[in-house]
Amino acid sequence: MPHRQRPYTILSVAQSIDGFIAGTSGFNRFSSDQDLDDLHKLRSTVGAIAVGIGTVLADNPRLTVRRGFEGAKPLRVVFDSFLRLPKDALVLNGEAHTVVFCGEDASPSSFDALGPLCEVVAVGKGKVDIKRALEFLASEKRVDRLLVEGGGKIIGSFLREDLADELRVSINPFICGEGVKMVSVSEKSDWGDKKGTSLLDIRFYPKSVQQFGHSVVITYLHARYFERSN
Ligand SMILES: NC(=O)c1ccc[n+]([C@@H]2O[C@H](COP(=O)([O-])OP(=O)(O)OC[C@H]3O[C@@H](n4cnc5c(N)ncnc54)[C@H](OP(=O)(O)O)[C@@H]3O)[C@@H](O)[C@H]2O)c1
Repeated sequence: MPHRQRPYTILSVAQSIDGFIAGTSGFNRFSSDQDLDDLHKLRSTVGAIAVGIGTVLADNPRLTVRRGFEGAKPLRVVFDSFLRLPKDALVLNGEAHTVVFCGEDASPSSFDALGPLCEVVAVGKGKVDIKRALEFLASEKRVDRLLVEGGGKIIGSFLREDLADELRVSINPFICGEGVKMVSVSEKSDWGDKKGTSLLDIRFYPKSVQQFGHSVVITYLHARYFERSN
């Protein structure tokens, strides 16, 4: 199976009808209650839930399993090259173990005081090397399924590196006009001289369409699985 050396990776976003995951005001509470219930059910099935530091700074998420699915305690993961993570961020509140991936130039010692529930792991020069981060999660933490909940830059990196197996896209009855795009790969400096996959070369095919209240959730499988399952 292609994901043996890394977790099976699901990218999850809630977007407006016109494809934004947040409006310019920062508004991003797009999902219906029923959609959130289903998302927490999905969270309860994975070994880790990940976001980029941009999402932590914007939304301060807890990344825990709630809404009736308590019990499971997936790892919480933050991609944070320069350790900008505030010490009072909710992902560090001790409700579950947290792994912060940073670049090799960051100085993790300021996180020592947070104790055993927070682990800082350096992978990659400058930016976090997400492929190495996934290999670490699979080999050191035995994570076999990973849920990545944004934001746009992290989603862009997973797609550019062809590291996603499944997409869960929740489409909601809002029109933003402008804001944060579901996939952001505009920062050329993010890539340096590294060659990513052209997004147009990657295919995801629909596996299911579900309606949860006002949210329409389309689950897509990477082409490699789609061919296998049909
Ligand atoms: N509706 C939804 O489903 C949803 C979900 C999540 C977030 N959001 C919204 O999305 C916005 C945040 O998205 P965002 O794109 O600004 O931030 P993001 O994707 O959450 O985080 C991006 C940051 O992660 C760090 N990073 C580390 N390694 C990286 C790598 N290999 N590739 C890319 N980034 C890497 C970079 O900061 P460093 O260089 O400092 O490490 C980068 O700026 C917020 O407005 C939030 O509300 C919406």
